[in-house]
Formats: sequence, C-alpha cells, structure tokens
Amino acid sequence: MTEPVFLAACARRSAAHTPVWIMRQAGRYLPEYRALREQHDFRTMMRTPELAAEVTLQPIRRFPLDAAILFADIMTPLDGLGLGLRFTPGPVVDRPLTTRAAIEALAWPPAEEHVGYVLETIRGLRGELPAQVPLIGFAGAPFTLYCYLVEGKGSKGFVRAKAFLHAEPAAAALLLGKLAELTIDYLAAQARAGAQALMIFDSWAGLLGPDDYRRFALPAVRRILEALAATGLPRIYFPNQGATLLEEVARLPLEVVGIDWRLPLSRARAVLGPGVAVQGNLDPAALFAPDAALEAAIERVLEEAGPGPGHVFNLGHGIEAATDPAKVARLVDHVHRRTARGGTP
Ligand code: CP3
Repeated sequence: MTEPVFLAACARRSAAHTPVWIMRQAGRYLPEYRALREQHDFRTMMRTPELAAEVTLQPIRRFPLDAAILFADIMTPLDGLGLGLRFTPGPVVDRPLTTRAAIEALAWPPAEEHVGYVLETIRGLRGELPAQVPLIGFAGAPFTLYCYLVEGKGSKGFVRAKAFLHAEPAAAALLLGKLAELTIDYLAAQARAGAQALMIFDSWAGLLGPDDYRRFALPAVRRILEALAATGLPRIYFPNQGATLLEEVARLPLEVVGIDWRLPLSRARAVLGPGVAVQGNLDPAALFAPDAALEAAIERVLEEAGPGPGHVFNLGHGIEAATDPAKVARLVDHVHRRTARGGTP
C-alpha cells in the first residue's frame, strides 16, 4: 500500500501530489454542518462521538482532501474542570484563573476518564476514513489556552492575560506547566486511540515578543513536543503570527511548522532550515476572489513553497464561515492538478 501523501509530506518524502487540508474544514461554511448544528448545540456535537465523527467526515465526503481533523475544540480538555466553560460561539470561561490559589487548585483526571468521548470519536473515525486520508488529532498550545483561562473570553490583545504574566510570573509559569502536563496526557491518549498526526494550535503566540515567548510560551511547548516523540507520529506546531518567533521555533523537536499567511513560505523555510516540513499558507480571504485571482494566489503559495518535498498545502488560518464551498473544491482541485508528479495513481 502506498503511503498517504499527507504523511509523506510531513516526513519530507516526495509524493504523487502536494497534500491539502484546511484549518476549520469541518465547520460553519458547510451547509451540512449548519443543518446538524441547528439540531444540537456545539458542546453536544463535540461530546457525542457519532455526531463528532459525522462532522469530521462532512468535508471528506465533499472534497478530495488529503487529511481529516478531529472535530473538537482547543478548550475541550478543559471542559468539566469546574471553570464554567461555554461557547458563544467562541470560548467563555465563567470562572477565570486569576489567582495563584485557583491555579494551584486546577486538577484533571486522566484523559481516558475525562474526555473518553474524544477518544471514542477517534476510534470510530479510523474505521470510517479512507486509508489514504489520515486523521489529525490536536490540542491548543499552553499559552493559547492560558489566554482564554486567565482572560475569561476571547479578546483582541488578551491584555489581562498578558498583564498577569508580568505581575505574577511564577503563577503564570505554574499554569503553563500544568497545561503542558494536561496536553501531554491528552495528545498521547489521542495517539493511542488512533490519531495519525498531532497538531498544536498556538493561535495567540504572536501576541508575545521573542523574549516573553522564550520565557513563558516556549518551555511548555517544548515539553509537549519532547514527550510526544515517543508516539512516533508527525508533530505539527502552528505559531500563529509567529514570524518574529521562528528562530526559536526552528530549535523545537518537531516535523512540521504551520505558517500563517503573513509570512511567505520561502522566508519561513530560510529560517527553519531543511529539516522540517511547512504547512500553509493561503490567505483565507483569497477564497472570496474570482477563480482566476484565487488560482493566482494559490500559484504564489506553491512557488514560495518551492519544488522540493515537505509542503502541506493549507490556509494561513481557519476558513471563514462565509466562504463558498465551491471555492474550496476549486482550491483542492487546483493544488492537486498543479502539483501532480505522475507517481503511482
Ligand atoms: O475543522 C476543524 O478545524 C476541527 C475543529 C476545530 C474547531 N476549533 C471547531 C470549532 C478546531 C481545530 C478548532 C481549534 C480552535 N478553537 C482554535 C485554534 C485555531 C484557530 O482558529 O486559531 C481556537 C483559537 C479555538 C477557539 C474557538 N472555538 C473560537 C475562537 C470559536 C468561535 C469562532 C469560530 O471560528 O468559529 C470556537 C468555536 C468553534 N470551534 C466552532 C467550530 C466549528 C463554531 C461553533 C459553532 O458552530 O457555533
């Protein structure tokens, strides 16, 4: 059996074509997602393995994507820990962690007990996904989870959460370390359940300058990546808006770095070196352009990625809810056609 193109690209091996998947490919831009969502709230959809598996499969049925991503949220492993987590639709934490005592008290059961529904979703999906479509498991990076837990809700600059880093550095470091431990357990359990790659979303990494990133965010990410080496799975890290952090990221033990749309992939590759694959990075706004302009934007990403292996095509951030699914079909088809290398069909 030939190796799935997504896994080949993660390992920087050449494949029949450049693989493509899309951040937030299971979600509100799909009418079939909205139809199911009318009947169930978001939390119920995540916590019910049949529904979560169905939503994961929706984009795979519609488009010839090269990977599937588990339907869950970065906040999922923090559900049920007494923090009052809600989705409106973004995460809200009714009892944010704003004191050292609250941080010290944060405790969680093993993933098998606590988020068994996620693991059951993964096991069910492995029986349903085509062999050439690997399943990506994921988690939020500690700093990004920290932002929601301390701020209590989404925010443009997470000023409260950032201020806490400076006011209470020891308590902040304690929380980041605890989140690293929780995430190691969560992702290792996903690997045992059958996830075939593991991605860490650091959506708010770019809120930190390099010094604070090195001091607070990086050690927790490094611990997770080091612990996950034992799974043998490709480790993908997405430091969103991380152009100024890439020198630090280049030293992490990982296989793939996700690059947002602000940094051309050639420049990312120049900093990261030849030892890692890159994933990205079409601006999600390009999907609102006429086909010719969309295709020109795709071409620019492919050119920036260069001719060698080790590129996973993706958007530079999550797909917008207002996107026309026909544009996604166009995107997937264009990447496949333009990168076909005449390997085994
Ligand atoms: O298809 C997939 O990518 C898998 C599922 C997935 C969701 N969230 C489902 C979701 C993944 C990988 C995530 C990650 C996530 N969640 C991130 C990291 C990626 C990024 O965008 O930077 C972050 C920051 C969150 C937090 C979050 N959850 C926000 C900000 C929101 C609301 C805004 C939005 O983009 O939808 C959510 C809710 C959420 N997570 C929805 C979905 C499908 C919408 C829920 C609904 O239907 O009401």
